[in-house]
Amino acid sequence: MILPCIWYLNMPPKAGYAYGISAEIIENLVVFEGGDGSGTSTQLSLLGRRFPGPGLPAFFATAEPSGGAVGKLIRQALSGDPGLRPETLAMLFAADRNEHLHAEDGIRARCGRGELVVCDRYVLSSLVYQGIQCGERLPRLLNSGFPAPGLVLHFDLDPEEAVRRMSGRSKLDVFENLDFQIKVRGRYLSLLDECREAGSRVRTVDASRSPEEVAAEVWRELAELPIMKANG
Ligand code: TYD
Repeated sequence: MILPCIWYLNMPPKAGYAYGISAEIIENLVVFEGGDGSGTSTQLSLLGRRFPGPGLPAFFATAEPSGGAVGKLIRQALSGDPGLRPETLAMLFAADRNEHLHAEDGIRARCGRGELVVCDRYVLSSLVYQGIQCGERLPRLLNSGFPAPGLVLHFDLDPEEAVRRMSGRSKLDVFENLDFQIKVRGRYLSLLDECREAGSRVRTVDASRSPEEVAAEVWRELAELPIMKANG
């Protein structure tokens, strides 16, 4: 197994699909993506307040890194202790995702039984963040087997404003600095078309507005999902 991997990693990078060619789509899966400080967690909790409700599907809010064993290790590493090599971190994110997706009560099972699952970060975060740290090839290799979400909402915010918003936090993670966040924003913008090509609906949301304004737009986008129309 090691030799083919080394061969693959040494191949020149080429344009490809974020989720692997002919990726499966999980229509009921919505993913929030964006740089740190762009408000995805706030939006997920605002969205959660609308559920349950008449005519709405069952709703499950979740996030990556997950609350599972691998996710906890990742959160520790993001705080800088233990410091892990970028490649190790890339592998941990993929391992965490595999559990999150395929566990007995995981994303796939929930979507399969008709729940609307909204996940704060998913594959695209790895292609963006680990892509910056490890180069194109490894995150693509590790993530090409994961299904694509039905909808990707990209929360776009000027990195300087994002860093201002985060400046009140008591402790910052290893990625939460201006230089890194400028690269993060650039990579998000350059990868969104690939998500479209993989079959996801992709919308960029202007995250500089008030949380209420952003939440209203998020709701409008969600209302277009087949699962929302089927229940409405
Ligand atoms: P974040 O959603 O910002 O968590 P919180 O605000 O609760 O600390 O996610 C933590 C960090 O993990 C964030 O900087 C992005 C990073 N990350 C990756 O680098 N790769 C990934 O695949 C994922 C899911 C997250």
